[in-house]
Amino acid sequence: MSCCSSVHGFAWLVLVHACFFAAAQAQQAARTDPTEVTALNAILGTWGLRASPAWNISGEPCSGVAVDETDVDNNPNINPAIKCDCSFNASTVCHITKLGISSNNFTGELPAELGNLEKLEQMYIISSGFSGPFPSTFSKLTNLRILWASDNEFTGKIPDYFGSLPNLQELRFQGNSFQGPIPASLSNLTRLTSLRIGDILNGSSSLSFISNLTSLTVLILRNCKISDNLGTVNFSKLAELTLLDLSFNNITGHVPQSILNLNKLGFLFLGNNSLSGSLPYDKSPSLNNLYVLINIELWHMLLLCV
Ligand SMILES: *[C@@H]1O[C@H](CO)[C@@H](O)[C@H](O)[C@H]1NC(C)=O
Ligand SMILES: *[C@@H]1O[C@H](CO)[C@@H](O)[C@H](O)[C@H]1NC(C)=O
Ligand SMILES: *[C@@H]1O[C@H](CO)[C@@H](O)[C@H](O)[C@H]1NC(C)=O
Ligand SMILES: *[C@@H]1O[C@H](CO)[C@@H](O)[C@H](O)[C@H]1NC(C)=O
Ligand SMILES: *[C@@H]1O[C@H](CO)[C@@H](O)[C@H](O)[C@H]1NC(C)=O
Ligand SMILES: *[C@@H]1O[C@H](CO)[C@@H](O)[C@H](O)[C@H]1NC(C)=O
Ligand SMILES: *[C@@H]1O[C@H](CO)[C@@H](O)[C@H](O)[C@H]1NC(C)=O
Ligand SMILES: *[C@@H]1O[C@H](CO)[C@@H](O)[C@H](O)[C@H]1NC(C)=O
Ligand SMILES: *[C@@H]1O[C@H](CO)[C@@H](O)[C@H](O)[C@H]1NC(C)=O
Repeated sequence: MSCCSSVHGFAWLVLVHACFFAAAQAQQAARTDPTEVTALNAILGTWGLRASPAWNISGEPCSGVAVDETDVDNNPNINPAIKCDCSFNASTVCHITKLGISSNNFTGELPAELGNLEKLEQMYIISSGFSGPFPSTFSKLTNLRILWASDNEFTGKIPDYFGSLPNLQELRFQGNSFQGPIPASLSNLTRLTSLRIGDILNGSSSLSFISNLTSLTVLILRNCKISDNLGTVNFSKLAELTLLDLSFNNITGHVPQSILNLNKLGFLFLGNNSLSGSLPYDKSPSLNNLYVLINIELWHMLLLCV
């Protein structure tokens, strides 16, 4: 509305009208990609959902709270929720970029139509009651940056195609019923800053896939049936790590000095593995707040606050 300020009288009124007209036109001009509207309706249909009144599903989905500044992340009255980016095709097309559906009581599999939300960047499906395998159509979501999918009943293998979603920065897969092994393709995801996998049911996984994930700040691979030697990873390359949890696996070898040299690392959990040898003592001065929880055959549980 800045175009209407510091103008007087009749001219002011005319301009007000012009502004409103322009605003209305802009709003009308940008519409949700029809493929995504169809997908969204199919998804809601599958889940037998009535969308919250705040979500304009009967009309234009990318309107109201989906395009304004409203924080939909922690609002139980707006769940499921979407956010859109309406700057596509010269600001005439809106794509859904975010879908917040956590803490719901859904049942059954994720609908395949989700793969049609091709501009999706963020998806939150924690504790949502889903089961079954991840749909293959997810491989089309190449813009995906954040996927939180912990605490559901997902089964099958974590699909290999996740290694081909190059923009992934955060991936959470704890507390499901996934089978191993963890796909080696994840080694591709060099932009990952946070990877949390846990509670893999069977199939032994290797550890070497983390070697090139040099952007990681948080790495949790707890209870993942990893059978590997800690020495297969050059931890010097994972210099951004603040938290490393490899506990409850079958990891062998000894704890290398390179782990204790990571100067951003604050938490290290290596308990319940098959590590041997003694802990290297040469800790860097920056490790003031490093908490190490290790049980090696020699020591059992050891909590070190160095
Ligand atoms: C937006 O533009 C792209 C590329 O020009 C085109 O393929 C697509 O169909 C357009 N989308 C809509 C909804 O018109
Ligand atoms: C919902 O969409 C309809 C149709 O596009 C539109 O007329 C209406 O203003 C929208 N409602 C809200 C609350 O955004
Ligand atoms: C899900 O079910 C539980 C238990 O029946 C209930 O307490 C909770 O409010 C439900 N959550 C939603 C989002 O419907
Ligand atoms: C790694 O990413 C490239 C490019 O996206 C892809 O072609 C390749 O198949 C991926 N490798 C694996 C093992 O997924
Ligand atoms: C894991 O268990 C499932 C279901 O019992 C089975 O189909 C699959 O072959 C097993 N995978 C491995 C690697 O043992
Ligand atoms: C890490 O990246 C290098 C160089 O791109 C590649 O040769 C190597 O195979 C990768 N290692 C793993 C475990 O993916
Ligand atoms: C481990 O990585 C560091 C940092 O990239 C590198 O300087 C060092 O040569 C590597 N060590 C081995 C044994 O590859
Ligand atoms: C643990 O690793 C050792 C050595 O690699 C292997 O012999 C053993 O079978 C593994 N145990 C389990 C439970 O996977
Ligand atoms: C973890 O290690 C402790 C101590 O060695 C052992 O008593 C416990 O059974 C282990 N737990 C699991 C789940 O392996």
